[in-house]
Amino acid sequence: MSINLKVIILAAGQGKRMKSKVPKVLHKVLDKTMLDYVIDASLKAGAEDVCCVVGHKSMLVKKMIGDRVSYALQKEQLGTGHAVMQAESFIGEEGNVLVLCGDAPLIRPETITEVLDFHTEKKNDVTGVSFLKDDPTGYGRIIRNGSGEFCAIVEQKDADPSQLAVREVNSGVYVFRAEALKKALSALKNDNAQGEYYLTDTLELIKAAGGRAEVFEAEDEAEFLGVNSKKDLAVVTKALMKRINEKHMENGVTITDPNNTYIGQDVEIEADTIILPGTSIEGRTKIGTDCVIGPNTQIISSDIKDGVSIKMSVLINAAVDNYTTIGPFAYLRPGASIGEHVRIGDFVEIKNSNIDDGTKVSHLTYVGDSDVGKNVNFGCGTVTANYDGVHKYRTTIKDNAFIGCNTNLVAPVTIGENAVTAAGSTINNDVPAHALSIARKRQVNIDGWSKK
Ligand code: UD1
Ligand code: CA
Repeated sequence: MSINLKVIILAAGQGKRMKSKVPKVLHKVLDKTMLDYVIDASLKAGAEDVCCVVGHKSMLVKKMIGDRVSYALQKEQLGTGHAVMQAESFIGEEGNVLVLCGDAPLIRPETITEVLDFHTEKKNDVTGVSFLKDDPTGYGRIIRNGSGEFCAIVEQKDADPSQLAVREVNSGVYVFRAEALKKALSALKNDNAQGEYYLTDTLELIKAAGGRAEVFEAEDEAEFLGVNSKKDLAVVTKALMKRINEKHMENGVTITDPNNTYIGQDVEIEADTIILPGTSIEGRTKIGTDCVIGPNTQIISSDIKDGVSIKMSVLINAAVDNYTTIGPFAYLRPGASIGEHVRIGDFVEIKNSNIDDGTKVSHLTYVGDSDVGKNVNFGCGTVTANYDGVHKYRTTIKDNAFIGCNTNLVAPVTIGENAVTAAGSTINNDVPAHALSIARKRQVNIDGWSKK
């Protein structure tokens, strides 16, 4: 259903309190930047157009976020109201505009929809969103009159002691009727403690001009936590971990220590999988049922099927099929595609290679740019020499081959079906099916040598 929703996300500030060379909205919460969460929530709520107001290191922000949104440039950061002015052409003449802050990443699409419905039902010109905070320090305070009607938002730095005591704070989320917003922006002044054009003042201006300005009181404070410092970033990360891990546990995933398990928002895990402590699962990873993952494992954008065990290992853009065991201490790099009932053991690195069903690569081995068949056995210390300093070449190992310990396979090379390489061989010519290949010097014993 089309809801004709336009969203402006404020993301131009440097974030001085972060004490960082990285723009604030690019700091990550788990595996994604703060700005990405706000964009994702907008799109999931049905936004058709999203415009990010960028300024500080805008080229870097655009590069990281990409072209799924449009951008408006705020050259100088003169306040949140000034930021919205830079998106004037985006606002248009009619309909509603949702404004979000790029530094409050936990907003949920369901809440956006709720606020929009409230705004439409009440026929408001502007709807702000507030929440209650035990320690309101840093937030704008919602000021109401004796009968509870909204009057104004007062920033921390402009507030008197009685206003500072107010615990209802401004979330930085607003829905405006486009026309009312434009009119209020043109009347905005910067005569306040920070000399900034505050977006928060537009609510009072709309009210003064006879419009309807109301504040929606949201329930879940965690959703609106803003990040101004590294301490806030840790608080928000914890809150997101709780939300994500609880969702998986409700779906039947066992998480031994949710305080020490880092699962990204876009990860999918099926019931009866167990996640052990110290594990980080990121990106677009999918994990099937009956797996045991961890402890101390990092998995990035990988596809793990059912009954897989992965212990103390790192996987990046890899695929692992049913009932395979990985680790401890294995490293699957991009393009590693591992079949069913495979064993990838300790200190094994696999890159850009297909390993077919039933194969065992048990210890201390590097397999790069290779196609390995079924039920192949790798002895300890096998190395595919895939790179001559200029070009990369592939190694092919056919079904049931046996690679002796400490074999070097100098690519391009093919080992035939049921072929065997002797321990310590350096193989640089193809080995036919069923052959034994020995490629090492004969041993020489010199009698009595050490007595001399
Ligand atoms: C703002 C609100 C405050 C609210 C809080 C919620 C104002 C004046 N204050 O305060 O009432 O409680 O958010 O988290 O709006 N930005 C720009 N351009 C600018 C200034 C800011 O794009 O010129 C962006 C920042 O990058 C940030 C967002 O706007 O993503 C909020 O700015 P910030 O300076 O953090 O405002 P707060 O002091 O937190
Ligand atoms: Ca803020």
